[in-house]
Amino acid sequence: MSATGIDGARSLKALNTLGVDARAAGMIELVQPEQLADTAFDPRTDLVLGEGSNVLIADDVPGTVLLNRLRGRRVVEGDGDHALIEAAGGEPWHGLVRWSLDQGLCGLENLSLIPGLAGAAPMQNIGAYGVELADHLVDLDAWDWRDRQFRRFTADECRFGYRDSHFKTGEPDRYLVTAIRLRLSRRLTPRLDYPGLAAALADASVDQPTARDVSDAVIRVRRAKLPDPATIGNAGSFFRNPVVDAGLADDLRTRFDGLPVYPAGDGRAKLSAGWMIEHCGWKGHRDGDAGISEKHALVLVNHGAASGRELVELAWRVRDSVAETFGVVLENEPRIVEFPRQHD
Ligand code: FAD
Ligand code: EPU
Repeated sequence: MSATGIDGARSLKALNTLGVDARAAGMIELVQPEQLADTAFDPRTDLVLGEGSNVLIADDVPGTVLLNRLRGRRVVEGDGDHALIEAAGGEPWHGLVRWSLDQGLCGLENLSLIPGLAGAAPMQNIGAYGVELADHLVDLDAWDWRDRQFRRFTADECRFGYRDSHFKTGEPDRYLVTAIRLRLSRRLTPRLDYPGLAAALADASVDQPTARDVSDAVIRVRRAKLPDPATIGNAGSFFRNPVVDAGLADDLRTRFDGLPVYPAGDGRAKLSAGWMIEHCGWKGHRDGDAGISEKHALVLVNHGAASGRELVELAWRVRDSVAETFGVVLENEPRIVEFPRQHD
């Protein structure tokens, strides 16, 4: 095998954005899809990692961490108003977004600055500022660990939902995404519904934005709102915004003045988990090095040396207090990596 096999326990601290100092017995870098045929993977002991920006590693990894480092991106078809682009699973997502803008292609601008790699983007159908991956993904290639062959998934087969996909909850750990293909447009349809985005453009005196202007505004909004993992360990939103019956949402809104509620279709409504957590008094809270960001209440932070278990413990205390106050149980958004393996 041409992989870089590294024996002995290795720290994962620099390989997850929460900065948890867990260890792995072994590590392999995947640089060619062909390596997969010679690579063993047992989800009970092994772990696939991209950039580690959506995991909380609670335990040491008893087996091998497989780092997706497959690189390459290209315009597959580029005629007419639309283009199809392809990215290998190890391409950094934000770099892909900016490259697509350089090609004169629009669509991904609202998804600027989301950390992580392209192959992980379908796992939870990344989304921000009114756009999600599912709006652009045409299909993807994945390695099937069980049948040991490559398989192509259409967008429908990915079963995308809000922060969800077939790969996250349908058959977790069965597939490794090796490449994604996205349909983009040569014409910008600005999506500026998110409060704050239009304001950020206005602040920059932009009234006819280009896709790059929108991307720059998204970057400014994100930098203002979210803690930077380079400064303080975090994995973005730690909980999903709960989707509940609209009737329950109305009831909660009556009882809790100011609770943000967004329509979610089919008689459902989405509640702001960040607001609920702040209401319970957790914003800026700190237990040793495990904390809740003072910038954004939905973000669990590692001030330096928190262990994965300490972070999990704090997260569950937050979840329990929100459940007690609002009667709504928050679900973690990042994967909590535990051994023996338990599915989310
Ligand atoms: P990892 O954390 O390495 O992996 C995540 C999961 O996917 C793990 O279960 C892993 O085993 C699996 N996995 C990784 N790669 C593959 C693969 N190729 N094939 C199969 N399984 C794989 N997310 C949003 O949706 N919207 C946001 O606005 C957003 N903002 C964020 C802001 C910050 C500051 C941070 C730190 C995170 C944010 N996230 C956001 C979460 C995160 O960036 C995304 O979920 C991202 O797609 C994770 O990519 P990754 O490469 O880091 O995945
Ligand atoms: N809020 C508070 N206190 C806070 C933070 C937020 O009360 O400390 C309330 C405010 O009322 C605010 C509302 O929550 O208006 C919504 O906050 P924000 O706009 O920051 O969005 P979010 O719902 O907290 C979601 C995603 C983010 C994504 C943004 C923008 C989830 C779980 N999170 O956050 O995704 O970037 O919207 O679209 O859906 C991620 O997944 O890691 C992530 C960062």
